[in-house]
Amino acid sequence: MQEEIANFTLQNPTKIVFGKDQIKNLSTLIPQGKKVLITYGGGSVQRFGTLDRVREAISGYDFGEFGGIEANPTFETCMRAVELIKKEQYDFVLAVGGGSVIDGSKFIVAAAEFEGDPINIFGKGIGTGEPIKSALPLGTVLTLPATASEMNSGAVITFKEKKAKVGFGSFHVFPTFSILEPELTYTLPKKQLANGVTDSFVHIIEQYLTYPVGGMVQDGFAESLMKTLIKIGPDVIKEDLHDYTIRANFMWTATLALNGILRNGVPGDWSTHALGHELTVLNHTDHAQTLSAILPAVMLVRKEQKFDKLVQYAENVWSITDGTDEEKVDAAILKTVAFLKSIDMPVTLKDINVSSSDIDFLINQLEKHGNTALSERGDQTLEVSRAIYEKALELEF
Ligand code: NZQ
Ligand code: ZN
Repeated sequence: MQEEIANFTLQNPTKIVFGKDQIKNLSTLIPQGKKVLITYGGGSVQRFGTLDRVREAISGYDFGEFGGIEANPTFETCMRAVELIKKEQYDFVLAVGGGSVIDGSKFIVAAAEFEGDPINIFGKGIGTGEPIKSALPLGTVLTLPATASEMNSGAVITFKEKKAKVGFGSFHVFPTFSILEPELTYTLPKKQLANGVTDSFVHIIEQYLTYPVGGMVQDGFAESLMKTLIKIGPDVIKEDLHDYTIRANFMWTATLALNGILRNGVPGDWSTHALGHELTVLNHTDHAQTLSAILPAVMLVRKEQKFDKLVQYAENVWSITDGTDEEKVDAAILKTVAFLKSIDMPVTLKDINVSSSDIDFLINQLEKHGNTALSERGDQTLEVSRAIYEKALELEF
């Protein structure tokens, strides 16, 4: 078992352009002479005027558009964009949207340059496909703080027919720049705001709630980011409260939650995400809603393995200092549940319409995708995952 901070190399090349009215800077961020393909989702950027602002900012470029990238972007849709790029010789992709549009665009820029069949980019999970040797340059305008896809090198693509959500990652798909305008979040509905807070929170948890290795910097950053989300979360989800400070802190926290700084040198546990992805495949539940429905059960079933970090979490994040360690941990788990409920997130599988007859499907899916040894120690077998799903089903809060 890893006892101390592991060696790491960290290079994050994404330029962040943060603040008010930054879209106008696109013409200084995209190299002159590029033929730009704007990619976007189901239409929110058209409805709320963001696309018009982007069009105006890049009016000096030769550009085209590709809309219709779905929430949970599909391989099939993205491949249509790849064909368009090849046919029309685009050499820059500008993703305007949330994590789905950015993830889809990461696949598009990699597939456009991939030698051979782009399906081979995917293996059973991140790092198991064929290596990506190059990609078209990608810039982003972020409209939904949640995934940190705007400043990381990962993406998750959905294969409808195969009933699978598969991740891939490559240094080549880091965005070259990302524009973060907190005011773009003002049009988000309450549900997406709550999803964003929760996805970020769980990203931090999955890089923190493992076992201690003395990563004081990583732990300190993680605790500070979690405390920020706990503090601002209830105000973030007030869709009519257009408070710049709150939304700016939300947006920056979401980016920092998964841009590499928390992850390096310390163990990680991506089991809540792995179990959650199968729930999205099962019944299309939003990504963050699946995480929220699973997290309390992960904390309870894995309490013993994560005990030392749970005590630290109780003390440093929730300021629980009274009682035995066991009592502190139990109180911290209850506080976590109360926080998720306070932002209207589901906290059990019943809340997202999963029943006991679905569990065999979920376990089969985990097995099919090679997720048979999850968690920071690789000791989360399918039996343990089944216990987590069952616990998440039986819990009453
Ligand atoms: O499609 P449009 O019409 O644009 O509407 C979107 C979509 O319906 C809407 N929306 C986005 N910005 C808006 C807005 N509505 C109003 N105002 C705005 N400013 O919100 C809906 C959800 O968007 P989506 O992009 O799907 O959400 P999110 O950012 O949560 O992304 C989820 C995807 O990211 C993956 C998830 O698995 C999922 O596929 N993830 C990617 C990660 C990464 N790359 O590192 C890590 C994450 O853990 C996650 O797995
Ligand atoms: Zn996530």
